[in-house]
Amino acid sequence: MPRAPEDLRSRRWFAAHDMRGFAHRQRMQQMGLRREDVMNRPIVAIVNTWSDLSPCHAHLRERAEAVKRGVLLAGGMPFELPAMSLGEVMVKPTTMLYRNFLAMEVEELLRSLPIDGAVLLGGCDKTTPGLLMGAVSMGVPALFCPAGPMLNDRHQGRTVGAGTHTRMFWDDKQAGKIDEAEWVKLESRMTRSPGTCNTMGTASTMTAIAEALGLTLPGASSIPAMDAAHPRMAADCGERIVAMIGEDLTPQRILTRGAFLNAAAVQMALGGSTNAAVHILAMAGRAGVELTLDDLDAAARRVPVLANLFPSGDKLMEDFYYAGGLPALMARLGNLLSLGEITATGRPLREQLQGAEVGDDDIIRPLDKPVSPHGALAVLRGNLAPEGAVIKPSAASENLLRHSGRALVFDNQPQLQAAMLDDSLDVDENTVLVLRYAGPVGAPGMPEWGNLPLPRKLLRCGVRDMLRLSDARMSGTHYGSCVLHISPEAAVGGPLALVQTGDVIDIDVAARTLNMRVDDAELARRRAAWVAPAQPFRRGYTHLYQQHVTQAHLGCDFDFLQGTAPTPEPVIF
Ligand code: FES
Repeated sequence: MPRAPEDLRSRRWFAAHDMRGFAHRQRMQQMGLRREDVMNRPIVAIVNTWSDLSPCHAHLRERAEAVKRGVLLAGGMPFELPAMSLGEVMVKPTTMLYRNFLAMEVEELLRSLPIDGAVLLGGCDKTTPGLLMGAVSMGVPALFCPAGPMLNDRHQGRTVGAGTHTRMFWDDKQAGKIDEAEWVKLESRMTRSPGTCNTMGTASTMTAIAEALGLTLPGASSIPAMDAAHPRMAADCGERIVAMIGEDLTPQRILTRGAFLNAAAVQMALGGSTNAAVHILAMAGRAGVELTLDDLDAAARRVPVLANLFPSGDKLMEDFYYAGGLPALMARLGNLLSLGEITATGRPLREQLQGAEVGDDDIIRPLDKPVSPHGALAVLRGNLAPEGAVIKPSAASENLLRHSGRALVFDNQPQLQAAMLDDSLDVDENTVLVLRYAGPVGAPGMPEWGNLPLPRKLLRCGVRDMLRLSDARMSGTHYGSCVLHISPEAAVGGPLALVQTGDVIDIDVAARTLNMRVDDAELARRRAAWVAPAQPFRRGYTHLYQQHVTQAHLGCDFDFLQGTAPTPEPVIF
């Protein structure tokens, strides 16, 4: 039902003929606004995750001005609201610890203030799900304005991408193939402009998922941050959100199970980040949509990797944009998508994909010529991961997708890092490296430690991949045969806590299995002897996080934030 102006939420603040209404209007006039600016116009929040320590969002102050222009031209009134900025590289121990913090902040910002609708500015990995989870739970019309990927870069004639090549060059340095001078030079390359990582890492995956869910304008997620089309798109967001408020087009009306299955299909076609497995489930939980790891595994079996982008392929996001971007890829998926889903345009997906064309078949491959014969995700289960674990087969080594090897187990990062530099370490290329106590509760925050470093002595011999297991996550920009998100995690007593160095681990990705060759009686004996690690966090946000975070197979949201139970509107006196 369209929303009449007199039904706007903000009118509870600004239209009341009482002392509070007087005070609300008075304080707006204190800022130089006119009475009529806030009394009769939809009020739009521009939730901005800009900060001086978030290079991926460095341009979002200017983009907020473009959004404001669009809002004003459409007859709305914009207010910019700062929100926690989760710059992936700077925030320690991991931005994942704070995704739920941002989601809570966004929900309560929108609820506690006179807001009718919101444009959400962000794009660095956890920012996108954090912004969306909060907006979904609050329930006002919301439109996501993606920060956009940074520009391409080349080094010595070679295309290099943010994140993906950092570990590659580091391994080369450890193996003595890169000297200190080149290493220092690389520091100033690879990140040429503001914007999110230009590979198909977590940022690009999640902004594309936001678009596939129907929460952006068509094509928005592929526009490079520094392209002139980007501020134009931001202005369009401002204009469109005013119309969405009039249409009462809330996230709940857009986020159906079909929309989430579209998002899963797009993740797979992009060769997207394994991190998306956690975020999609968390977002679905906020929308009250049934979705499990098995739905993602089914999507991966159905949808091949079509986007030739690092780390599964060899191109960057700027190339993807020139090839037609996400609308072209989704048009190519055709009936693999649910085309009747309504998006933020108010129209079905089918209509907005009309006219979208692939401009380069090497970058967006035809369905019968995928980038990889393997899917972008596989969900494994077995006595090591009863609730599931994930791997990205398209970025793994073919020979390690079915493998048996002796476990070499580490309980923390310092122990692991020191061992990898120890040239007397008892390890070979068949060894299975295991890192545990790095999950949601254990680390805490499930950091991106799952791309375990390789032993220096093997790097020098030319080894560039080994089977690695953990309850951690992995950067979406990284590659390798890494089994991640093992659930339940070791810190809450999952079987990963019971593995010992020397146990044989069996993986068979085609069969979706992950097991340790340890019989039940021995596992029971080890479990009886297991002692949960002491947790040093006795107060503050991290304590709250550890008490309430759910396991990876459920999305790592807080248990008290899941679901769609209504929250009463604030009382105004
Ligand atoms: Fe922000 Fe990669 S560090 S998107």
